[in-house]
Amino acid sequence: MAELPTSVSIREVGPRDGLQNEDPIPTGAKVRLLDALSRTGVRRIEAVSFVHPRAIPQMADADEVWQRAAKVDGVRYSALVPNSKGAQRALAAGFTEIEVVVSASDTHNRRNVNRGTDESLDDIAELIDLLHGADATAEVIIATSFGCPYEGDVDPARVAAIVERVVRDGADRVAFGDTTGMGTPRRVRDLVTAVRDRDADVPVLLHFHNTRGTALANLLTALELGVTEFDASVGGLGGCPYAPGASGNLATEEAVHMLHDMGVDTGIDLDALIEVAELAEELTGRRLPSGVLRAGPRTRLTPSPT
Ligand code: COA
Ligand code: ZN
Repeated sequence: MAELPTSVSIREVGPRDGLQNEDPIPTGAKVRLLDALSRTGVRRIEAVSFVHPRAIPQMADADEVWQRAAKVDGVRYSALVPNSKGAQRALAAGFTEIEVVVSASDTHNRRNVNRGTDESLDDIAELIDLLHGADATAEVIIATSFGCPYEGDVDPARVAAIVERVVRDGADRVAFGDTTGMGTPRRVRDLVTAVRDRDADVPVLLHFHNTRGTALANLLTALELGVTEFDASVGGLGGCPYAPGASGNLATEEAVHMLHDMGVDTGIDLDALIEVAELAEELTGRRLPSGVLRAGPRTRLTPSPT
């Protein structure tokens, strides 16, 4: 097996990507989840998104959630936005780390943000300037990087061309979203290689969904390729509220369990994280898909002695 990095940076996205796919929960419950996550040792949390409340009612109270949340030292908090209006709201709320989303496939981009990919990229160029002018950083998340629910396969060359464009426009980081869980180790390898072949000198983060059970395999493949930044969601929050048991994001505790056993540090306290996953089940009133959560304390592994 290829040598793995000694540590990785996990960004917890349960409060945003997770909760936007669950039935809405009260503001206070969102704050409890966020604050509990802040105490697990995780170093990055995507806290909320500033989107149209009609598009995603689950994020309608983003301002209040963020205002009430404890901002713990040592944790980097970020917000996702779909456009300049969202970026302005995020800046006004005090965020200095902002993610803007665009889909690699035109049809998904139209469904998600009501415009074509090229039009979004033009907006994003301006939005990056707006953020930099306000001393904030801009990460571009490229959704449907591994496949589109409407168009099927997405050519890695198309994704790599988007990376080139946004890097030229000043993006500080890029992320690849496996929005539909179509990613496989082969697709991860093809995409990361295609991006590197273009020589884009930019930090890269991968965002997997476990819809088809491939998230951990994708994580391992990316690690072997030297990728060190990943999104994950506590309990595997997310998925589809109308399909009981449907899998959401890569579950943070499944990732942490595997990584620690392989000698890869995350800074996260696994026991504390499992308690938050239990809290997430209580707050959503739904059985979450995380296998670590189901397995019980006696089967938890301690970090390998290496
Ligand atoms: N937050 C709140 N309101 C917003 C907004 C935002 N980020 N962006 C636009 N609006 C408002 C505008 O002010 C305008 O209001 P008005 O009618 O009172 O003047 C109205 O929405 C329409 O603006 P427009 O730019 O035409 O937006 P749209 O109707 O084309 O919708 C998005 C585009 C991006 C706002 C909407 O599709 C969206 O929020 N999508 C988010 C999807 C998402 O979060 N997906 C999951 C994450 S990947
Ligand atoms: Zn996602």
